[in-house]
Amino acid sequence: MTLKGQTALITGSSRGIGKAIAVEFAKNGCNIVLNYAHNEEAATATEKELLKHGVKVLKIQADVSDRGMVKQMVSKAIEQFRHIDILVNNAGIVRPALLKKMSFEEWDAVLNINLGGVFNCSRSLINHMIENGSGRIINIASVYGQTGAFGQCNYAASKWGIIGLTKSLALEAAKHNILVNAVAPGAVDTDIIKGSEKFLESYLDNTPLARLGRPEEIAKIVLFLATDATYTTGAVIPANGGFLV
Ligand SMILES: NC(=O)c1ccc[n+]([C@@H]2O[C@H](COP(=O)([O-])OP(=O)(O)OC[C@H]3O[C@@H](n4cnc5c(N)ncnc54)[C@H](OP(=O)(O)O)[C@@H]3O)[C@@H](O)[C@H]2O)c1
Repeated sequence: MTLKGQTALITGSSRGIGKAIAVEFAKNGCNIVLNYAHNEEAATATEKELLKHGVKVLKIQADVSDRGMVKQMVSKAIEQFRHIDILVNNAGIVRPALLKKMSFEEWDAVLNINLGGVFNCSRSLINHMIENGSGRIINIASVYGQTGAFGQCNYAASKWGIIGLTKSLALEAAKHNILVNAVAPGAVDTDIIKGSEKFLESYLDNTPLARLGRPEEIAKIVLFLATDATYTTGAVIPANGGFLV
């Protein structure tokens, strides 16, 4: 129970990697602010699963790209739990298209949710963490924040941006005992990769472990960054089956 009595706000924790992180944290005694955008049914199912671990759960629908909603979510979370100890910026989307055909909407949606969401949530919580004298911020980037991604200029730009933000905030926050790190997964078996079978085939051909990652494998790294990784900040932890080797 390494996180007993602590509280984590995890964006996009109704499904996929965010859900796996929430479950891993709840198993370790952490109260969860469960954020989601649209999928009420998935959020309610995840809430039920988390409650089985005897922790408190606050389920909040909020679009992380909407600054007003994020501000309200953070206020509600602080009101209920008093301390938010950990922020996991996980919410993300893809809108693949070649740049020559990419719409302004496809560009804006990905940048505003994936990167804007990290800024909005971090900005809304950082002063609370400074007042607390401690905190952990863990951002879910991607292997495509470390390479280019054919047909995904918007997604790759957002994930490179997250890595730049992570390193810069790590510099600013260190003196406040706030550690800021990122995890950069390769392809992980969740809804976000559905419909990308052709792309996945070539990805797996170039991945030494020759399989998709599992959400739980990412969650274990995030748990480590939230607990025992006390001398790690500004790091980007790869979890890509060897894709970059
Ligand atoms: N799976 C992969 O291969 C992979 C690889 C590298 C990085 N990642 C990153 O890992 C993160 C999680 O992805 P995933 O694979 O778990 O995706 P997923 O299964 O599609 O889940 C996405 C989650 O984000 C939430 N979300 C989407 N837009 C949101 C918004 N505007 N505001 C708040 N929440 C929002 C969704 O909520 P609803 O349920 O309400 O829709 C859902 O909980 C993303 O940042 C993704 O880029 C994934």
